[in-house]
Amino acid sequence: MHGTIPRELDPAGAQALLTELFEPGADRLAHSIGVGRRAEHVARVLDCPDLLVSAAYLHDIGYAAAARDTGLHQLDGARYLRGLGAPPELTGLVAHHTEATVEAAERGLDGALRREFPEPATGLLDLLTYCDMTTSARGETVTVDERFERIYDRYPPGHLVSRSMRDAEPRLRTLVSGIERRLGLPFR
Ligand SMILES: [Fe+2]
Repeated sequence: MHGTIPRELDPAGAQALLTELFEPGADRLAHSIGVGRRAEHVARVLDCPDLLVSAAYLHDIGYAAAARDTGLHQLDGARYLRGLGAPPELTGLVAHHTEATVEAAERGLDGALRREFPEPATGLLDLLTYCDMTTSARGETVTVDERFERIYDRYPPGHLVSRSMRDAEPRLRTLVSGIERRLGLPFR
């Protein structure tokens, strides 16, 4: 898998791209950098390829104005990165992070998502989702409890995002505890 990512999308290139696409000081930028940093740590401890780190920096790129299209940020981000020459290993991780198929189904986009971006093997995908679920909207490392609490504060009960998160919550919690065990955590 090493060497398949074009240089402009390696971890350093990914960070440069983020600062091009998001306003300085924007929450999405801070969150993306935080998730990337978390992935750097995880990749060191569990000996994972740079692919995980690049995907972590870029996972929310679909929220950038330049990428936004359908409103499903995982799909918009994966399409945008495909346009920049990202390999399927990278676009697949971005397309499917954090239970994307749940929100995709709510938006009627699950068919398009699966057709265009086959779901990658669970290993790196789960680690990416773990990093996302333990990093706050401002980029700080948080527990999964705090993360859910803040998501539900930000999106009211009937909102599509909060409905999708409630649906995915049990699976996300199981995933996070499994990875915390591998990392010798939790830090509570
Ligand atoms: Fe995220």
